[in-house]
Amino acid sequence: MSEPTTRLKIGVMERRKALKWTLIGGGIGVGALTLGLGGTVAYVYSESKIDTVGKVDFASPLAIPPLAESEIDSSGTRIFDLEVQAGRTAFKHGRATETWGVNGAFLGPTIRATRGEEIAFRVRNALKETTSLHWHGMHLPAVMDGGPHQAIEPGDDWTPQWTVDQPAATLWYHPHPHGRTARHVYQGVSGLFLIDDDTSQTLNLPGDYGIDDVPLIVQDRRFDDENQFDAEERFLSSQGVLGDEILVNGTLGPHFDVTTRLVRLRLLNGSNSRLYNFGFGDDRPFALIATDGGLLPEAHETDRIELSPGERAEIVVAFAPGETVDLRSYPTEEGYVLGLGRFNGADDRFDICRFRAADSLTDRTEIPAEMGVAPDLDGEEIAEERSFRLSGTTINGEQMAMERIDFGVREGTVEVWEVRNDDGYMHNFHVHDVQFQVLTVDGGAPPPHLRGWKDTVRLVPQRDYRLAMRFSDYTDPNLPYMYHCHLLLHEDQGMMGQFVVLGEGEEIGTVPEGRGHEHP
Ligand code: C2O
Ligand code: CU
Ligand code: CU
Repeated sequence: MSEPTTRLKIGVMERRKALKWTLIGGGIGVGALTLGLGGTVAYVYSESKIDTVGKVDFASPLAIPPLAESEIDSSGTRIFDLEVQAGRTAFKHGRATETWGVNGAFLGPTIRATRGEEIAFRVRNALKETTSLHWHGMHLPAVMDGGPHQAIEPGDDWTPQWTVDQPAATLWYHPHPHGRTARHVYQGVSGLFLIDDDTSQTLNLPGDYGIDDVPLIVQDRRFDDENQFDAEERFLSSQGVLGDEILVNGTLGPHFDVTTRLVRLRLLNGSNSRLYNFGFGDDRPFALIATDGGLLPEAHETDRIELSPGERAEIVVAFAPGETVDLRSYPTEEGYVLGLGRFNGADDRFDICRFRAADSLTDRTEIPAEMGVAPDLDGEEIAEERSFRLSGTTINGEQMAMERIDFGVREGTVEVWEVRNDDGYMHNFHVHDVQFQVLTVDGGAPPPHLRGWKDTVRLVPQRDYRLAMRFSDYTDPNLPYMYHCHLLLHEDQGMMGQFVVLGEGEEIGTVPEGRGHEHP
């Protein structure tokens, strides 16, 4: 590195905090800042953009997470054994990276279960610190949820069990320890959780796991000089760590060999803070067939799909024999105030995965005209309306407290939650236990990709999202579910709240004293 650059960077670091708060607090544009601070911000602004298109060699075959093994016990319960463990992964030449995973060194197996099945887990924490395992998107009792109140101490087992009772969907699992979710996920603890049902098993959609039904867990990482994960926040970012390289299922620079005309991709944004705007290098159209909570009633044709951290989408893409096409992430077109997008990754462009089609492709699947069930909560009687404003590290001005239950909802009722991002950069909103319907965005119909069942929704700054959800089953006055921003730094900083589901006549209780309550 040349002398002047080094000096400039040191100067920049010193001013980092002040600058950051000016940007956040004042919402001042980069133009104004450039005037005030001379070349510094302009330099950083131009250096902040990442573009890896054309620079990725796609030399490695895409890893496909193995399906988790299970056994059925005498009562008919399907039991999975999961161990959260530390290990080493060779992402690059040279030194291996210290990583964490489930039943392996990085990421975890894909769990698969069918609606109606009774399932159970033995989750062992083989790490040296407390963690938890949360089933993101799952409808289940709060005590099985794996949130901060179900902490697993080092060396301990946790044995949740419930009956799968929701439509076919692509869900996922990840740790949720109080204040430390970001690091545990960044280290590599995540996996997919696929649910099948009668509908999904009868439809002629691509469904051969790893062949024409392909999971894509997309995560950005930054590596330091020693090949270790660098979790430093990006300069001037308000969203937490942003990587400059992309892992798909733990593979850097992956390619996938296509053998069928239609391929279904199950996309998970498993990143801590980055927004992706997925599309193909030739802008080919594809069919969006499912969102977080399951299949759409009918496919929606598009050429881009945006996913914020925690969101999933299933798409079906058609390939021609012998062709090669790359999945990319494009700059996002909206959603940041003035220059704030640049520092939070909105202008970045990535090569994600190369698809190489064989010279002859089998053609046995289709995109059925009718698939899932449309959300139907519009017009339902609304038991309660609530409003949530996300700003800084708070929701409605408050930070998460383990002992504080923010409110109770009544089992069997429908509520409408109005959610708003008051900042100029990205937040999103995730609710445990339920799938919700986006009724309106700023009073208008939601865009097509938000019309299916969702459990996580990106909040474009300064817009009102009205979310309708029904709370059913599993009452517990004492043990809460979470709602929070799924940008993991924000979640850890306290942008999270807790609610309980109350049976008739029940009142909000007291969170039991337990593990995981000590603040990190
Ligand atoms: Cu994906 Cu509260 O989590
Ligand atoms: Cu969740
Ligand atoms: Cu946030």
